[in-house]
Amino acid sequence: MLWQKKITLLDFQTYINYFQGFSSITILTILAITSNDFSVKRLKQNWKKLHKLTYLLIFLLPWHILDKMNGHWTHITPLAVLIMTINLILFLQRKSIEQIQAQGKGV
Ligand code: HEM
Repeated sequence: MLWQKKITLLDFQTYINYFQGFSSITILTILAITSNDFSVKRLKQNWKKLHKLTYLLIFLLPWHILDKMNGHWTHITPLAVLIMTINLILFLQRKSIEQIQAQGKGV
């Protein structure tokens, strides 16, 4: 993609233009590196906090895809948008279940 679109990593503007993509890949790298028993033990409560970064991807990736594919969708784009929509629905459903459970406990 970098080669095809002639995107240079040496220009600061690239990081501004692809802010959502670079943020997503950074988050995914952090999650991949810390997805092991050693990190869970070492980071303790911070591990859970760190892995909450996953939730940012639910918003960053659809933003990235819709922004970058605006006006020139390929055969991959509808599939990507469908997956992002399912993710968002599951996230909202989970949040609503958590809220109902919290109300039940009087929190
Ligand atoms: C894990 C991180 C990323 C994911 C999951 C991701 C995913 C995607 C997806 C699904 C598309 C739509 C492709 C299509 O419909 O054909 C897309 C488009 C695009 N992405 Fe990313 N991306 C990520 C990171 C990045 C980064 C870091 C860059 C920049 C260096 C980037 C540059 C682009 C560009 C230029 C397009 C438009 C492609 C086109 O016009 O055909 N992406 N990305």
